[in-house]
Amino acid sequence: MEETRILLKNIGKINPVSSADYVAAGGYKGLKKAISNPEAIVDIMKDSGLRGRGGAGFPVGLKWSFTKGTPSDQKYIICNADEGEPGTNKDRILMSGDPHSLFEGMAIAGVAVGATKGFIYLRAEYPYLLPILNDAIKDAEAAGFIGKNILGSNLDFEIEIRSGAGAYICGDETALMESIEGKRGEPRYKPPFPGVSGLWGKPTIINNVETLCNVPQIIDKGAEWFRSIGTESCPGTKLFTLSGNINNPGVYEFPMGVNMRTLFKEVGGGCPGGKKLFAVQTGGASGAIINAEMLDMPMDIECCAKAGAVLGAGDLMFIDESINIIDVVENLIEFFVEESCGKCTPCREGNTRLLEFVHKFKDGTAREDDLERLIEIGSFMQVSSLCGLGQASPVPVLSAIKNFPDKFIVKSDERGQN
Ligand SMILES: Cc1cc2nc3c(=O)[nH]c(=O)nc-3n(C[C@H](O)[C@H](O)[C@H](O)COP(=O)(O)O)c2cc1C
Ligand code: SF4
Repeated sequence: MEETRILLKNIGKINPVSSADYVAAGGYKGLKKAISNPEAIVDIMKDSGLRGRGGAGFPVGLKWSFTKGTPSDQKYIICNADEGEPGTNKDRILMSGDPHSLFEGMAIAGVAVGATKGFIYLRAEYPYLLPILNDAIKDAEAAGFIGKNILGSNLDFEIEIRSGAGAYICGDETALMESIEGKRGEPRYKPPFPGVSGLWGKPTIINNVETLCNVPQIIDKGAEWFRSIGTESCPGTKLFTLSGNINNPGVYEFPMGVNMRTLFKEVGGGCPGGKKLFAVQTGGASGAIINAEMLDMPMDIECCAKAGAVLGAGDLMFIDESINIIDVVENLIEFFVEESCGKCTPCREGNTRLLEFVHKFKDGTAREDDLERLIEIGSFMQVSSLCGLGQASPVPVLSAIKNFPDKFIVKSDERGQN
């Protein structure tokens, strides 16, 4: 199956720094249209049905309408380029190969809601992207696409890059804003939501890189064109990151709703060494671990949720028959113990307790009531943690218990088996 390259169309084909190359490939047309009729942009975004690509899938037009409708002397656009989710590598490809599409998406958002300043919050582990982004910003400013008086319109839109310091929690929108403000990166209580009171208390749009890169072509080609791709509830394409036990790992672009089996077999080339697929983790480190028998699943937000999986940022980690699922779960919970910011008790204490239980299953000392307590603590964390990290971190272990129950009632002599 051929990729549908809408977001990736310029990757490897243009000089990423050069706005002239980007314009020759059809770029900055959306911004020109947006400037000619700023009032219409939010409605076009609503009509397009674009949903956020950072994990939660919130409707973009609706988010923008909150910021547009909140009067303020200053508003901000933030691009979430933290990309800290293990197994996600898509945003760096867009930023390294086509940064002007990101700037254009941010500038259109600014014009739409009356924001004159944008920040790109860049993952600490992507320092090699800094010179590319900085050079491309300088080029776009010199050509009049961003900066003061963009395209002679009397509108300003400046973009500044802020680097993270390596904390996964700073991918959460409110922790990210704390970090930009120079504070410790911990989530805020919501409400108020960022659209109304965000960065320095001002109305702020925060969107993922992939989300913003969709915007220029939607404004240029129209909402109807965008709706003709993908599924009814999730229009457009999605960047899928394939990783784990797969012959062709990488980032691929397909319409929303593409079948997971197609991604595994035709695109990914199956498991190396002809091994059998045992399980798939969808949606990143905090996503569900599902049985390989569920492979015939259309990949959009609703279909994944119905099947007890998560689309998230489009990550698919394939797990073959040689891997012990308890080891996978242990590795994931270790990550969350490390990355929990510690602000709230359910997540700070809960992840450590989950890890203790998983160790018992691993070394064969778990009792039946340990399983009940594990499920109880995990379920409690989901409803009582302050932010998405603690709410979602029990998902891998809870889904593994549901989908592979025989792996969690092991006797010590069955250790090491799947
Ligand atoms: C712990 C945690 C980490 C997150 N990491 C990211 C990230 O790296 N990139 C991202 O775009 N969104 C991340 N998010 C989601 C953001 O909070 C937010 O929903 C997103 O940036 C909104 O953009 P979107 O609507 O375009 O998806 C994270 C959320 C949580 C709770
Ligand atoms: S859920 Fe975890 S990461 Fe989020 S605020 Fe609580 S302790 Fe911090």
